[in-house]
Amino acid sequence: MTLIAPSLLSADFARVAEQMKSVADGGADWLHIDVMDGRFVPNLTWGPKIVGDLRRVSTLPFDCHLMIVEPERYVDEFIEAGADTVTFHLEATPHAQRLLAHIRSRKVRAGISITPQTPVAMLVDIIDDCDLVLIMSVNPGFGGQSFLPRSMVKLREARALIDARNPACLLEVDGGVNANNLRDIVATGVDAVVMGSAIFGTPDPAATVRDMRSLLS
Ligand code: DX5
Ligand code: ZN
Repeated sequence: MTLIAPSLLSADFARVAEQMKSVADGGADWLHIDVMDGRFVPNLTWGPKIVGDLRRVSTLPFDCHLMIVEPERYVDEFIEAGADTVTFHLEATPHAQRLLAHIRSRKVRAGISITPQTPVAMLVDIIDDCDLVLIMSVNPGFGGQSFLPRSMVKLREARALIDARNPACLLEVDGGVNANNLRDIVATGVDAVVMGSAIFGTPDPAATVRDMRSLLS
């Protein structure tokens, strides 16, 4: 079964608890929480405090996507706030293997993400240390962008690398996924699909999650 991970980036932040409940009622599997620092990406969102506050109002697993420089400075705060997955960017640290091992040692899922410019081959020497690989299918920073077609090739390459080397690792895609391209994207073998504007940009996010699920069955 493909996991559906609505991205809170496109939610109404003034009604975030209600919007989280809505996607949970619709059958979402994870909540994707985008953390941006205005340095790694040209946008700002939220930090560990809000993750901890949201943790108290939802039982869904929290899939935290850190788009920040020097992620090693902050991963523990997100783990302590209640993250179930902590994903950071390969491009944001020179010591990705060490950070993956550290996140694993804290008993949460250790994820690595690559931006559109980074080849999947850059993961070859750290794939054994990953519990999740997140392929960005847009340039990170904003919701509502168009899916970059080259990402289809990268998803197939990532699937092959994971199958050959670390089959327990999950493959996730993030950026520009919507009802029109969902089935083709999932056919590349992804395990988890992030969707922001395609879910929270609709009047009834619960119904939209159900619609997305039915497209996958
Ligand atoms: C973008 C974020 C995404 C974003 C996706 O940098 O990492 O999670 O919310 O939004 P959509 O699904 O609208 O492309
Ligand atoms: Zn994201």
